[in-house]
Amino acid sequence: MATGLWKNVGNQVIFYQTQPQKVLMSRSKELRERARELPDDYYVVLVGDMITEEALPTYQTMLNTLDGVRDETGASLSSWAVWTRAWTAEENRHGDLLNKYLYLCGRVDMKQIEKTIQYLIGSGMDPRTENSPYLGFIYTSFQERERPSFPMGTLPADEKRHETAYTKIVEKLLEIDPDGTVLAIADMMRKKISMPAHLMYDGQDEQPLRTLLFCCTAARSLHCQGLR
Ligand SMILES: [Fe+2]
Ligand SMILES: [Fe+2]
Repeated sequence: MATGLWKNVGNQVIFYQTQPQKVLMSRSKELRERARELPDDYYVVLVGDMITEEALPTYQTMLNTLDGVRDETGASLSSWAVWTRAWTAEENRHGDLLNKYLYLCGRVDMKQIEKTIQYLIGSGMDPRTENSPYLGFIYTSFQERERPSFPMGTLPADEKRHETAYTKIVEKLLEIDPDGTVLAIADMMRKKISMPAHLMYDGQDEQPLRTLLFCCTAARSLHCQGLR
């Protein structure tokens, strides 16, 4: 009998597959056919967003640098820690979704992309929030909005909800500590909201993020690292 992830067949345990192999094969063929006609610049945006989403360990680490709201044990029951873990769990499915789509579509060089993700997680990020929850939540309320929204599954709805949550935190801060919050907003604006993937490196191009942004606005016949 099937029990969640796996089932027993005879004396063997096999992973439970919800769709027969034939259906999976024809669906992935269908997906590749649909993907064939999409212009390259769509893929430049998807690759950039996927790499950014996949560096999720960095963002959870960043949230746990903030004084007073960090997850002290890794399984803390404080509301802040519960929120951060639930947020991380939702963000995790964004990278998964984009990664699986890009893998199946056959349009991009996955090895190059995976290398870039590995470099990016290894580099971390410095949003200059300096352990301050004020600066941290001002940063996240802007940053959630900057994520491009693709009509893919639950992704846009998650990002919208995240933006609403972080914006509400900043609204509450403005209500209970207007002076401190306005100073923090001014500080963050002076420092500028850096892209979460600002330390992106693909092993060849020193500034792939700049190249990526250039490619997004360039002519459709672009040729860019990570695309073939
Ligand atoms: Fe996300
Ligand atoms: Fe998000």
